[in-house]
Amino acid sequence: MLVPADETSIRDAAALLRGGGLVAFPTETVYGLGASALDARAAARIFEAKRRPSFDPLIVHIASVEMLAVVARDVPDSARVLMERFWPGPLTIVLRRSGAVPLVVTAGLQTVAVRMPSHPVARALLREAGLPVAAPSANEFGSLSSTRAEHVVASLGDRVDCILDGGPTTIGIESTILQLEPVPLLLRPGALPVEEIEAAIGPVERDATGASPSPGRVAHHYAPGTPLRIADSANVPLEERADAAYLGFATGACGYAAVRVLAPGGDPSEAAVHFFEYLHELDALGLSRIDAAPVAEVGLGLAIMDRLRRAAA
Ligand code: TXA
Ligand code: MG
Repeated sequence: MLVPADETSIRDAAALLRGGGLVAFPTETVYGLGASALDARAAARIFEAKRRPSFDPLIVHIASVEMLAVVARDVPDSARVLMERFWPGPLTIVLRRSGAVPLVVTAGLQTVAVRMPSHPVARALLREAGLPVAAPSANEFGSLSSTRAEHVVASLGDRVDCILDGGPTTIGIESTILQLEPVPLLLRPGALPVEEIEAAIGPVERDATGASPSPGRVAHHYAPGTPLRIADSANVPLEERADAAYLGFATGACGYAAVRVLAPGGDPSEAAVHFFEYLHELDALGLSRIDAAPVAEVGLGLAIMDRLRRAAA
């Protein structure tokens, strides 16, 4: 059920969440598929609806620092510094789980990933529900994230009790996920550039392939149905372009069946806004391939290249 997000629909959606229902809602990054983070059965429904493997933990969304105490314990000082500076916003912090969060939410881990979204609809929904809400991106597991309510309808449709339509998301790419202990470690590059985190708390380890993996970081992910490869058009012969689409960063290319340019001015945050949007559009054309231009891995470029590599894997 798709409804415009307003006071009434947000109130009804909050009641659904309290009753164990599934609600898709906009955040500033991508749409989330939410259920009560304190209700194991409700959270289990998320995994069913997304066809998500049970080893992949969910992010818990909160509206206030008071809610943090419900879901996490022993919060380190560095986390407080980051929350003060970047919440509400697109930063997810991995903390110690409190006993109130069922293990189905954390996929058996003793840690819990927490974020406070800044989107007004998400904030109103969380406040009205009065609950922490577990929410992965609102799309079938492994496929493109949803940056519009229509994407949620196409991907999950009737598996969701209510879809709140708050228009296109403003950032367009998922939150940055950070673990703090034993040392700060970037688990997923995302909408908050790691450079900004380092400016606040000092060096952050970037290679998360080692000891403390983020269970959901599977190699093939964020993928369109159309095969995708990372290729600068300069290296693609003309005869390979006719039945393919090109996703450029600052410039387009000729000879392709379809072309989208993420950021004609070269601004990475503009590229993030369009990233999933354009991939959804190009995917819908049913061409034989998408060539995506590589992006410089600084700022939001790191998150975009991460998504492109997984989509191409
Ligand atoms: O922007 C976002 O983060 C969006 C919106 C809806 O908030 N959510 C999102 O969730 O992208 P999802 O499920 O698509 O990605 C969450 C990832 C998991 O795949 C997993 O890698 C990581 O978060 N994660 C969750 N809990 C974790 C934990 N306790 N330890 C390590 N990684 C965790
Ligand atoms: Mg996801």
